Amino acid sequence: MPILEALGPSPHRSLPPVPASGRSAAARRLGVLPMPSLEWNESVARETAHLYERIKAVVPAVEWPFFAPYVKAINELKRERNAVILAHNYQTPEIYNCVADVVGDSLQLAREATKADADVIVQCGVHFMAETAKILNPDKVVLIPDVKAGCSLAEAITADDVRLLRARFPGMPVITYVNTSAEVKAESDICCTSSNAVEVVESLGAERVIFLPDEYLAKYVASQTDVKIIAWKGHCEVHERFTGDELRGYRESDPGLMIIAHPECPPDVLAEADFTGSTAKMIDWVRAQKPKRVVMVTECSMAENVQAELPEVEFVKPCNLCPHMKRITLPKILDSLVYLKEEVTVDPVVAANARRAVERMVHLKC
Ligand code: 13P
Ligand code: SF4
Repeated sequence: MPILEALGPSPHRSLPPVPASGRSAAARRLGVLPMPSLEWNESVARETAHLYERIKAVVPAVEWPFFAPYVKAINELKRERNAVILAHNYQTPEIYNCVADVVGDSLQLAREATKADADVIVQCGVHFMAETAKILNPDKVVLIPDVKAGCSLAEAITADDVRLLRARFPGMPVITYVNTSAEVKAESDICCTSSNAVEVVESLGAERVIFLPDEYLAKYVASQTDVKIIAWKGHCEVHERFTGDELRGYRESDPGLMIIAHPECPPDVLAEADFTGSTAKMIDWVRAQKPKRVVMVTECSMAENVQAELPEVEFVKPCNLCPHMKRITLPKILDSLVYLKEEVTVDPVVAANARRAVERMVHLKC
């Protein structure tokens, strides 16, 4: 069924915070480490050869001498700092395959953040993901290698907007996508991700819900449930660029091509898809189906990560990059571990309220 209506978005955008100048509180407490050598030599080549094996299908050999010294230094510093690196599926192959301890979609990263047995968490993803890790681990040091790694969905709505919606629709439960700021999460009843949105909406037993801030995800959820949905006009700047026409063009020129899409895409794009799911569900689908040729209608680094694992599958790649995800690089991850920056902090009252909404989602069996 279609959504009931879509409101907003707010002109007052909640951009990620500006980096603090000077040393982080964590660096003052735990100290800065010496910058390791970044020389490329025989011994670095030998020690990192097994890691290059993982990405040789997608990273040319001439690029490895640039990446390898960073990979070696980061993996050593992780041990020294007792740090863990959580990386989203959109991270580039050398990060995803060579330095990450845990990879996944937003739900998997949030779940793993609750289990992290480390003093320091480095979030290789965007700011809302790092905030979620901090909300779930108030006593740990949580770092993001570039604090300007934002998200157009998180910027589309503010906590004031949610309060106004609650006043307009009294008693209606508010479900917020995790792609939101901590302040917005704190105003909501429960969070969801693209992996569990339908189950979360149905778990509340309500006839009508407010679902924020992704209009297209709301439309996808509405197509899968009888619950009536009030939505918000937030969009992902990467997925909104795909069109149904573009996909029909691919299909006409290659009738055997499989099309799988992320539910942040507009409805005319999802109408062309053979499968729709979160980034992790898209990867699982390719692993299970092993199609001859596939187009993953989502951020394009992900196809490279799956291609590294499954070189026999041919990926057709319309390349829409997320500029925020691409702010995270090996040199910035190294700086994060050496200088303990950029430290993510959340106001304790906001964090306590947001934790309630995130934990309610994490504890659902879906
Ligand atoms: P997933 O939870 O599916 O990984 O999506 C996160 C995201 O930002 C997609 O653009
Ligand atoms: Fe946000 Fe879209 Fe980038 Fe995902 S791909 S982080 S939703 S801007």
